[in-house]
Amino acid sequence: MRDILILAIESSCDETSAAVLRGQEVLSNVIATQKIHEKFGGVVPELASRAHQVNIMPVVDQALKEANCGITDIKCIACTSGPGLLGALLVGVSFAKSLSLALNIPLILVDHMQAHVLAHFIHRKDDQIISPSFPMLCLTVSGGHTQLVEVKAPLDMKVIGKTIDDAAGEAFDKAAKVLGLPYPGGPLVDKLAQEGNPNRFHFTIPDTPQLSYSFSGLKTSLLYFLKKEVALNPNFIEENLRDICASYQNTIVTYLLKKFQKALDESNYASMSLAGGVSANSLLRKRFVELGEKNNIQVFIPSFEFTTDNAAMIGAAAFFKYQEGLFANLDEAPNPRASII
Ligand code: KG4
Ligand code: ZN
Repeated sequence: MRDILILAIESSCDETSAAVLRGQEVLSNVIATQKIHEKFGGVVPELASRAHQVNIMPVVDQALKEANCGITDIKCIACTSGPGLLGALLVGVSFAKSLSLALNIPLILVDHMQAHVLAHFIHRKDDQIISPSFPMLCLTVSGGHTQLVEVKAPLDMKVIGKTIDDAAGEAFDKAAKVLGLPYPGGPLVDKLAQEGNPNRFHFTIPDTPQLSYSFSGLKTSLLYFLKKEVALNPNFIEENLRDICASYQNTIVTYLLKKFQKALDESNYASMSLAGGVSANSLLRKRFVELGEKNNIQVFIPSFEFTTDNAAMIGAAAFFKYQEGLFANLDEAPNPRASII
């Protein structure tokens, strides 16, 4: 069973990705990021579906080549079934169903958010294999989600806290937009912040109940702050861009980790992890490691390749489902609003 070759496909948003795994070992992980959305300042669903249609064959082809195998070597096909954009999901799901039928191999549908968490179980050849112990507390931060997830086993996880409005990634992307930076702004804010002073400007940390988050007020407070300052000095943004990014990023990271610490205090966890696109953020990664040291808990941070959307994480999740015989029927449909409970 450990030698099973799985072809995994991810197409929930604006990355078309295909990966080949042998069990938990990733042999290839090809990601085509759709550039078309940049000029619109955000993902345009119809354009995403069309780009997936164009990309999916070459991406799968490349993944097979890099894994040094042919399509008939594949013994199981997996794809993301949700959450995500319906049209985008349909491209991957239809493709996977067709292959499953044509090759007469099992189909596995994977929850995208569960896969982000399970990215910690992807192995690379020659990696020293250290997998997280359970229970694990995972902070999943992406462009569409912000979740505190209690993980008791690979396929047994529960969301114990989440955002009531915008996601952390949106807080980065929307701030970048008002600062005149291109989409997606998260990586750019991170880069500029590295040369800025995080204590120069003050943004209030949102006050939300229990383990919930809210990012829409933070984004609005940045907007009002900029309006006020630009009225006094039209060059305010250009002259202070690095300090604004550093101060704003510092507020988001402090807030994310404040709730994470609260969740740690409320239960006993054997490990803690980060997942999702925003886990590529340099400050969040640094402070997360420090938090782990402070709490004396084993820390897992995904390598950059597995932070943003990728098919290797879909394959890793699929391998767990394969071991349990959790296969899908061809009449199952994608679910854009799927959620792990
Ligand atoms: O997980 P992901 O690839 O897609 C979704 O499922 O949403 O996450 C994308 C998000 C975007 O909002 C992007 O700006 C953010 O991750 N992101 C970052 C960084 N790299 C990507 N945010 C902050 N700092 C980064 N270095
Ligand atoms: Zn994602």
